[in-house]
Amino acid sequence: MPGKLVVGNWKMNGDLRRNDALLADLRVGWPVQAIRQIAVCVPFPYLWQAQAALSGSTIGWGAQTVSEYAHGAHTGEVAAGMIAEFGCRYVIVGHSERRASYGETDEMVAAKSSAALDAGMTPIVCVGESWAEREAGAGDTVVLRQLDAVVSRIGRRIAETVIAYEPVWAIGTGRSATPEQAQAVHEVLRKRLRKHEAAESVSLLYGGSVKAGNAKALFACADIDGGLIGGASLNVDEFLAIAGA
Ligand code: 13P
Repeated sequence: MPGKLVVGNWKMNGDLRRNDALLADLRVGWPVQAIRQIAVCVPFPYLWQAQAALSGSTIGWGAQTVSEYAHGAHTGEVAAGMIAEFGCRYVIVGHSERRASYGETDEMVAAKSSAALDAGMTPIVCVGESWAEREAGAGDTVVLRQLDAVVSRIGRRIAETVIAYEPVWAIGTGRSATPEQAQAVHEVLRKRLRKHEAAESVSLLYGGSVKAGNAKALFACADIDGGLIGGASLNVDEFLAIAGA
């Protein structure tokens, strides 16, 4: 059975004072014996803060992207080995905001996944179609192309990743996919993972306007193992309610 996991993606939000409160409240509020795993992916400058606040708890932390290169002349980039030094368990790769705004290609996302694994971290590989692609009936083709690009680079290590299905049209829009829509795509992804003997080990997360009010119905779906939460992860009560749903 794939593990149950809920991850907060803070995106480019936070400051030292607010993070302190949020991380402390998270640590106090999350039951040690919870079956589900939770984690937060924070901006690079706050990795040390997440490490300091969450070390020794069951809550994981991670980054939101990583360089595909190990070191060298790549001004402004951050290598997987550097992130790993801050105790990160996870790195989000291929988020649609990075694909759209920073030109990340399927091949780059695959290379970043490989770099994260090489540094001992779990890449959370994001896939998802735009509304236009869905309307054109190409949604499944798009997410499978994005998944296959990673598999063709990392092979059997796909079993060591987490995959997040995030329909672009549902991100930050307040318009979540319905449980039926999300489950249908998750089933397609699971089937493809089965072909690679990874269906039982890879957690498939849904992301896109998940709130306390819709999390339970989404997480109850057969192939949805948890969520990748954007805006709602900045509110501790809301995030904990989602994580416990
Ligand atoms: P929202 O939950 O704000 O829609 O964002 C989802 C997301 O992009 C998580 O990575």
